[in-house]
Amino acid sequence: MSLININPTQTKAWKHLTAHYKEIKEVHMKSLFLADKGRKEKMSLEFEAISLDFSKNRITKETLDHLLALAGECKLDDAIEKYFGGDIINATENRAVLHTALRNTDKKPIMVDGQDIVPEVHQTLDKIKVFSDQLISGAFKGFSGKKITDVVNIGIGGSDLGPNMVVDGLHYYKNHLKTHFVSNIDGDHVAEVLKELDPETTLFVIVSKTFTTQETLTNANTIKKWFLQAATEEDIKHNFVAVSTNLDMVKAFGIAEENIFTMWNWVGGRYSLWSAVGLSISLAIGFENFRKFLDGANAMDRHFRNADFRNNIPVILALISIWYNNFFKTESEVVIPYTQYLQKLAPFLQQLSMESNGKSVDRDGNKIAYQTGNIIWGNTGTNVQHAFMQLVHQGTKLIPVDFIGFESSLHGNADHHQKLMANFYAQAEALFAGKTEEEVHLDMKFKGDEEKISTLLPFKVFEGNRPSNAILIKKLDPRSLGSLIAVYEHKTFVQGVLWNIYSFDQFGVELGKELANKLLVN
Ligand code: F6P
Repeated sequence: MSLININPTQTKAWKHLTAHYKEIKEVHMKSLFLADKGRKEKMSLEFEAISLDFSKNRITKETLDHLLALAGECKLDDAIEKYFGGDIINATENRAVLHTALRNTDKKPIMVDGQDIVPEVHQTLDKIKVFSDQLISGAFKGFSGKKITDVVNIGIGGSDLGPNMVVDGLHYYKNHLKTHFVSNIDGDHVAEVLKELDPETTLFVIVSKTFTTQETLTNANTIKKWFLQAATEEDIKHNFVAVSTNLDMVKAFGIAEENIFTMWNWVGGRYSLWSAVGLSISLAIGFENFRKFLDGANAMDRHFRNADFRNNIPVILALISIWYNNFFKTESEVVIPYTQYLQKLAPFLQQLSMESNGKSVDRDGNKIAYQTGNIIWGNTGTNVQHAFMQLVHQGTKLIPVDFIGFESSLHGNADHHQKLMANFYAQAEALFAGKTEEEVHLDMKFKGDEEKISTLLPFKVFEGNRPSNAILIKKLDPRSLGSLIAVYEHKTFVQGVLWNIYSFDQFGVELGKELANKLLVN
């Protein structure tokens, strides 16, 4: 069964939220903190290594009550059960959505089209493990008998962004193999990657769910030609593997059957890093770490499925985001991890959220009259403080922020980490509290800048009342990163359910592809 069609704007909760917004829109968060000393504790949640402080949002208990009522009226509980249960919730493509099954250790059957998918998931994981062990140990050799030193992931979109972000994100846990990513059809991209490589010691992982994607096939063919300058067709089996649902096309490319890692239609591209699409992750950090990464996501799945909505991290994040998007009419959200390792988190989240929820037709096929998907952007702190944060602090737009910080660093460097985290907390505080005219006045006077007060004062005022979530994680490791990504996957899901859209198709990417192909033919 698919998801129920409920127009959120026709619910009682939406009407209450509309009225409530008028009461709250001018309220400063400072007054909310003053009125309730326990606000921070009441608006904090914890699950394993992750804690969420959502107290610096323009919400009250009443706001949350209305938002939770909206989730109730939109039958979020029913949607979650259908999501995990393998119902055809991707109705426009007639598919189940089961990336959660990829990380489930439970052997309980999950049926898709009358077949239990769990054994296949475990078989593929076993294959990933065996292959990773062989490649890392050097037992799997290239065509000339030399050990593999470099791995190149050839893929785009979901077949690139997830593995690319995680391989970078978990660089600290990385082994001796060098990992490269080729995604863009820009020939300079592939040329730059190839120039560093030796065909004898490189493994190419072609990742394409459909094995029809123009960018991936063009890059794979260019690489094959380059490889064949040094080797023969027969040698392809030693240096090429593929991840795909399209086994015929993979074989036609020349890849040996034993080098094919299957995936399934019930895994969406942008949710596929938990499948064999994550092979380059497992090769980079070892299967044991890859398993921990899956386990972290699985733990978050259980939290999401079982915790009541008021204490549910992905649900709360989704509801707050809807509050800003649909009532404050914000257009974007910025995600700022305070670790250089997560430099590629924003592009990954852009695909996850914007390809999922960038829709303007509801589940009944009607044009939508309210806002759906947010624009997601971001980069790492503290770099962003010297780049776009000016606009977030003093610009005309309201931009909710997710700050993501880590209690400890990986290499020690206590002095750096203390400074990094001081900035993490300071940014949230500055956005929240701002700096009033009186404070600027006093400050300038104190600094001996009295004569400049009349000209500079307005420029130095910060309104404050700018919202942020603080996601604090004990340490960046495979498990916590797995959990964090699952938080954002489920947040995206909840938003799609409440906006009454289909989050798991992506027809919006097709027209451009068609037109590019026509231009090539003409
Ligand atoms: O951009 C559209 C898209 O279909 C994404 O959803 C997907 O992740 C990407 O292309 C790559 O697709 P494939 O894995 O089939 O090559």
